Amino acid sequence: MSSLAVHPNETCGAFVHGVDLANLTLAEFDQIKAAFAEHGVLFFRAQHLTTRQHIEFAERWGEINVNRFFTAHMDHPEIAIVAKEPDDETNIGGYWHSDHSYDVEPALGSILIARELPTSGGDTQFASMRRAYEQLDTRTKHRIERLRAVHSVHHVFGAGAYASADRGDFTDRLGNSDGADEMVDVAHPMVIRHPLSGKNVLYVNPTFTIAIEGMDHGEAMTLLHGLYDHATSDDFTFDFAWEPGSVAMWDNRAVWHSARNDYPGQRRVMHRITIEGCALEAPPELQRADPTLAQRAGATIAGGVVAATMDGIGMVIEPERTKRPDIEIVGEAPEDEPKDNPAEPGVSFGDLPEI
Ligand code: SIN
Repeated sequence: MSSLAVHPNETCGAFVHGVDLANLTLAEFDQIKAAFAEHGVLFFRAQHLTTRQHIEFAERWGEINVNRFFTAHMDHPEIAIVAKEPDDETNIGGYWHSDHSYDVEPALGSILIARELPTSGGDTQFASMRRAYEQLDTRTKHRIERLRAVHSVHHVFGAGAYASADRGDFTDRLGNSDGADEMVDVAHPMVIRHPLSGKNVLYVNPTFTIAIEGMDHGEAMTLLHGLYDHATSDDFTFDFAWEPGSVAMWDNRAVWHSARNDYPGQRRVMHRITIEGCALEAPPELQRADPTLAQRAGATIAGGVVAATMDGIGMVIEPERTKRPDIEIVGEAPEDEPKDNPAEPGVSFGDLPEI
């Protein structure tokens, strides 16, 4: 009988006790999978996995993504080395982010093992994007729920990567930054339906998100920074203190993470394996946003009424939503647009306050 026990943190993630990741039964793996979907990041103590066992555990979750930018383990390219040497000033991953959000199919998650730790410091912080989304005020939820944000890797890993006061410049420690410049920026919904939990999650992050489609840059930055301030509240964040043998496994679609850089003059070496993910989708009920629809505000088409948001993006909304106080009725359907319900006028979201 398994002694596996899951102890959730109040803010983000859960500890899993009573399990040996090198010798998991099928039933234990199922319990871990369920806990992972529910909590977004799992913490394990006293595991002492070999590099081979690390790879075998990762393979249970899916295909391993061999990192394009980080220095690879000499014998096992599946393992990316995340290291800070005593004379390095900056660290890798020292700014809130979600790995690979710049990919068309962002990575499912990563399994990080502590191999060499400073005497103190070097925690990894995690933030729950499910809780952050759930605790947004209703107006902000409505404001972002059909928007798509643009994610880029160029400014972080590319040849022209810039150092910021928070992020620092760690490009000297990347195994290869050439590929970064060839990558094309991608857009993902700002609110996704999580592929494992089925819950709505906020999907933008301070490192890789650079714009919001169809929105003026300044306005987008104000909106994004408001979301970042909200998402890094103590209510949704947890600091994981590493010990020899600790393992953390996180879901990039559910949490952000950030490595603390508070151990000057000491070495910290982590082994990371990342697992391939999938394309991310907006919750089905929010999937009907379409920039070309904005010109058709006022028309009634299958499924609802065409509305234009304050950001100029068109969408189809259910007729009953036109009764919402934050939606203002505007517009006429174009001549060629069949008005199958002339009683339903066009609608537009009213000016929502900045968060
Ligand atoms: C990372 O961003 O993957 C590194 C996290 C850490 O070193 O704690």
